[in-house]
Amino acid sequence: MLELIQSVSRAEIYLKTDPVRPHISGAMRLAPGRQMYHLNEEAFLCTVHLDRVPDTEEQLLSCDIGSIVVAYTVWSLKKGMGRTILLEALKMIEEHQFDRFVTLSPKTDMATKFHLSNGAELIAENPHSNNFEYFLNK
Ligand SMILES: CC(C)(COP(=O)(O)OP(=O)(O)OC[C@H]1O[C@@H](n2cnc3c(N)ncnc32)[C@H](O)[C@@H]1OP(=O)(O)O)[C@@H](O)C(=O)NCCC(=O)NCCS
Repeated sequence: MLELIQSVSRAEIYLKTDPVRPHISGAMRLAPGRQMYHLNEEAFLCTVHLDRVPDTEEQLLSCDIGSIVVAYTVWSLKKGMGRTILLEALKMIEEHQFDRFVTLSPKTDMATKFHLSNGAELIAENPHSNNFEYFLNK
């Protein structure tokens, strides 16, 4: 089951294994409107609730809080767990009052194949990122 990480010191330990955005500190990941989850300490997902779809990390860190859930890093230490944590998060978001579930993703084959194979759609190709959207079943 998806578990919310609530302590900055724990977040700091886990984020050492983040291959995507290791430079974002634990305190920033747990700031108001921001969440970090783990699944059995084998997969990790960081999200933020914003008022728009960000196309840069700068926007990700500076936009106002809103009802769009943005996943900006997901990583897995055990095969299959990355997909599981993402799909668990999607289920949880569908049960709450959010408008959209999108990503701010690196422009890598891995991220593209991962999100497309999980059912997301590519909604924007930006100079330094891609946005995928998981359409909510409400
Ligand atoms: C992407 C990631 C989260 C997937 O985790 P996972 O679901 O546990 O891993 P799996 O090996 O079962 O891969 C799931 C899917 O991701 C994609 N994928 C995984 N590794 C890949 C690679 N090296 N190249 C291309 N696609 C890859 C594939 O679509 C794969 O599905 P398939 O096995 O049916 O082809 C994991 O590989 C990871 O932690 N990568 C590093 C961080 C990262 O790039 N995250 C994504 C962007 S934020």
